[in-house]
Amino acid sequence: MRHSKTKKLLLTIISAFLWTGIQSYAADFKAGNSEFLLDGKPYLIKAAELHYPRIPKEYWENRILMCKALGMNTICLYSFWNAHEPTKDTFDFEGNNDIRRFIELCQQNDMNVILRPGPYVCAEWEMGGLPWWLLKDKDIELRSTDPRFLDRVKIFEEKLAEQISDLTVDKGGPIIMIQVENEYGAYGVNKDYISEIKHLLKDLYGEEVLMFQCDWSSNFTDNGLDDLLWTLNFGTGSDIDSQFKELKDLRPDTPLMCSEFWSGWFDKWGAPHETRSADEMIAGIDEMLAKNISFSLYMTHGGTNWGHWAGANSPGYSPDVTSYDYDAPINENGQPTPKFWLLKNVLDKYNEGHKINNLPELYPTMPVKEFSLDEYAGLWDNVPPAIYSDSIKTFEEINMGFGSAIYSTRLPNVSDGTLLRINEPHDFAQVFIDGVKIGDLDRRNGETEIILPQTTKGSKLDILVEGTGRINFGRAIKDFKGITEYVALVSANGEETKLTGWEIASLPDVLEFYNNWDFQTIDSLKRENISRMPPGVYRGEFELDTVADTFLNFENWGKGLVYVNGHGIGRIWEIGPQQTLYVPGPWLKEGKNSILIFDILGPTENTVEGLTEPILDKIRIKDDKINEEIDFLSYQPILTSSFEHSYGWKNVEFEKPFTGRYLGIEITSSHTPSDGIAVAEIYILDENGNRLSREGWTVTANSYDSKNGNHTPDKIIDLQESTYWQSSDSNQLPASIIIDLGEIEKISGMQYLPRGEAGVPGCIAKYKVYVSDENFVK
Ligand code: GLA
Repeated sequence: MRHSKTKKLLLTIISAFLWTGIQSYAADFKAGNSEFLLDGKPYLIKAAELHYPRIPKEYWENRILMCKALGMNTICLYSFWNAHEPTKDTFDFEGNNDIRRFIELCQQNDMNVILRPGPYVCAEWEMGGLPWWLLKDKDIELRSTDPRFLDRVKIFEEKLAEQISDLTVDKGGPIIMIQVENEYGAYGVNKDYISEIKHLLKDLYGEEVLMFQCDWSSNFTDNGLDDLLWTLNFGTGSDIDSQFKELKDLRPDTPLMCSEFWSGWFDKWGAPHETRSADEMIAGIDEMLAKNISFSLYMTHGGTNWGHWAGANSPGYSPDVTSYDYDAPINENGQPTPKFWLLKNVLDKYNEGHKINNLPELYPTMPVKEFSLDEYAGLWDNVPPAIYSDSIKTFEEINMGFGSAIYSTRLPNVSDGTLLRINEPHDFAQVFIDGVKIGDLDRRNGETEIILPQTTKGSKLDILVEGTGRINFGRAIKDFKGITEYVALVSANGEETKLTGWEIASLPDVLEFYNNWDFQTIDSLKRENISRMPPGVYRGEFELDTVADTFLNFENWGKGLVYVNGHGIGRIWEIGPQQTLYVPGPWLKEGKNSILIFDILGPTENTVEGLTEPILDKIRIKDDKINEEIDFLSYQPILTSSFEHSYGWKNVEFEKPFTGRYLGIEITSSHTPSDGIAVAEIYILDENGNRLSREGWTVTANSYDSKNGNHTPDKIIDLQESTYWQSSDSNQLPASIIIDLGEIEKISGMQYLPRGEAGVPGCIAKYKVYVSDENFVK
């Protein structure tokens, strides 16, 4: 690396005796002519993305060493504002939030660092790293020059810089580059805002350190500032030359870097487990190494979304699971996967003389014998004192960031079949009348209404609403929790009568709060004739003779939060695909260990066991939005046309505007028949040619490919250009998709983005478009 041998020896000796911080001599890192230069010498960045809050502190060094053994020379990391400032003006840089220590460990192990201090980071992390309490001001404009946002950004970035600004390379630290904001192009266009962030970071870290911004090849010029380096993000399988083409045209001499090369992908509750091809990852890394293109492998080790930190994606609402394994080369519990060894081979090929053959210690996993949680505190016996409000209030308005709330009021006389409209339940609501459950409303499915039975005046309505991760991507990051607007009874003619007089009890995600509930032993619960035990808090202990990593299995449990020995180890939900939670050995102890589960649905059995392998791919619901039978026979197409075989967005203008709720596309041929049909993204244009919002849309298809990853139809509208819907290999043409716009719209055209991989696989050739008020599903 950059340190000369003598300097290094001297430093090792000094630090062995008085290690108090980091080496204190400066180096120079900059963008030269088509390459990066470290002290004047060419330097290819081979970065591994790791996130310190997703790894137990006790394992930080181990994971850094794993990346080093892989052949990487740099660690790329975000900082996570909401973990560091959990409540306004309270800062936490200790324990697992000790970012300084993490960066020092990188340097001690001779790894450089790329710092991505946000303020927004995306990362499938609650609200993209922004603190929830910003939303206490309902009108705040996030990621903009709105002083209500920017003033808080300044305060946080200053606090962060107090911790680490002396760790930049020019001051003798390992930080070689700093990223300004994150993929702003996927959010909007606002160069003034990006400039503000850039100035702020330059003030805090100095003019010497190289600053860059990252975006996609399709939008990087939208917010590109002249005095920042531009890097691009794209996934494995992408056609690398075509990704960099425009950048090279605009800046022929810039060093090239893929700042996020996606090794895998994240999982969402209720959706199939995600994997990505190892071969494509290897081929991409090989090509970049051969072409002298720097990269950061996102994620090299994903880790875990502990506690309530998992975010969610939109349009619609797709909450992320607790594991952030990401199908990465180093798995969630720090073991090398087959991808690791393949990747190491490629990196070693270019690392002659610098290969590291020794892996750090690998920590084994252990089983834990089944045990039961024998103490129970019932939800309805432990409702805390409520606040009174005539109208509905969100979690933010009652000063709660995470957890659940019970909204209660009295009903008037209600006739059988009356509709209850909850506008909107964020994110999972259970409706009870006089203590009897009527049903659930799941935001993932856009559910906001439920039919009520006949009830008499004065009956008690309780709505238990659990908030899960705030959306971390796209415009929808301003994601309030609880009930966001109102609750109304809807009469047969559609008239709404808003309900008032609410008592709102908050159940915050705080261990002490649950521990203070009134517990009884489980034997006293009546279990006859019930398949599910009641919702509430279950508490227990388990004995261990030895301590190692394990995966606790929650297949018997409903939905909620788990704590082990005081650590929030994450959310569980019976629907899967994740059924187990990773518990690192250092958080366990020999002898008695404590476990507490707040289950809002209730378990089928109050038992848990520890497995040596995770279960990340077990779905327990039927997704009825895919593999539909679609029938266009009785409809006339509004357009019959074809696309050319090429990269990038394709625009289609209809001959005149059409009105309808459903848009169907019947694809009759592919430019690469052996790949089937693929669609990365689709937008539909309103009568003025503007993109319609995709909120509230659902997409169905007559097939999808699950053999090579997870290519379900929702990928067409997930805002991610690197993910795509793919018809299944065995599927005969035509391949058909239907987009349900949620309501009748006037539409004048559409935009189609095919896959970005070499040869544009699955690019649609001939197709027909249908528009109707009726669904085309048989
Ligand atoms: C983008 C973001 C990352 C992460 C990935 C998907 O590239 O910049 O933070 O969300 O997508 O995992």
